[in-house]
Amino acid sequence: MAKVKTAVITAAGFGTRFLPIVKSIPKEMLPIVDKPILQYVVEECIEAEIENIIVVVREGNDVIENYFTTELKAAEELLESVGKGDRYEPVRQLLSINGLKFVNQREDLPYGNGTPIISAKHLIPENEPFAVLFADDLVLAREKGALRQIIETFEEHDPIGIVGVQKTPKDELYRYGIVEPSEVYDEKSGVLDMIIEKPEPGEEPSDLAVFGRYVVSYDVFNYLKEDATGKDNELWLTDANDKLSRDGKFMYKVVDGKWMTTGDPARYFEAQVNYFLADPRYKDGANDFLQKLSQ
Ligand code: G1P
Repeated sequence: MAKVKTAVITAAGFGTRFLPIVKSIPKEMLPIVDKPILQYVVEECIEAEIENIIVVVREGNDVIENYFTTELKAAEELLESVGKGDRYEPVRQLLSINGLKFVNQREDLPYGNGTPIISAKHLIPENEPFAVLFADDLVLAREKGALRQIIETFEEHDPIGIVGVQKTPKDELYRYGIVEPSEVYDEKSGVLDMIIEKPEPGEEPSDLAVFGRYVVSYDVFNYLKEDATGKDNELWLTDANDKLSRDGKFMYKVVDGKWMTTGDPARYFEAQVNYFLADPRYKDGANDFLQKLSQ
């Protein structure tokens, strides 16, 4: 069974729900506590022992690559000179991340969440499975990161692909891809028949919503092609996965942890609150503040 060594992180959307701030800051660089959203996703890959992390960005968004590669010498020197050198430690850790590559999303392709994956194809080793992470989905893990959980199930059962899912309230299912399970292995995993992208209310095949974490075999490129547009003329990873699932066993994995999408300001705010409450440095203060608010 091939080990999953490569991941593609998609960070090339316009993030239009965050205009005007995203005019100058890519949505993936908005902070959660003191790190950009994207850094949490990169760290999830590292925890899952991914060796090649390919970040697909929009052309001109050099701010993303600069963040992961440039030093802040003046601040480091200033901190050292006043005996607060340890405050620079997070930057040292950030700069020690290995295996990151940045690639521009191709502008000649149709829009869609499959487009960044095609844009990264030349960097993905042929015939190896790889992970895909959408940078606007975060999972606040309890013990193991979401990707690690998914990869462990993938390596155990050797399917053709696997998606991370979470049980989701009925009135929110219309926003997501929803899986139709065909065979249940246990409480947390099974085989799926198909994924229905954003079903009409009442037509959901289950309450298991797909979030932006996948592992797929390289064969996904048999279907993820430049001209394979679907709904709204977009290139959808879901369409390619759906076709791939007819060629073999395609699994779902119910991931432990709290899935949050940061795709619009209100949900981004919820994610902020959850991360503050989970951070030992801030949780007491955040809890006090919330309690006062609710009085
Ligand atoms: C994408 C996927 C969808 C998934 C969602 C999770 O949708 O196509 O299946 O449920 O991410 O955030 P998008 O957010 O691109 O509309």
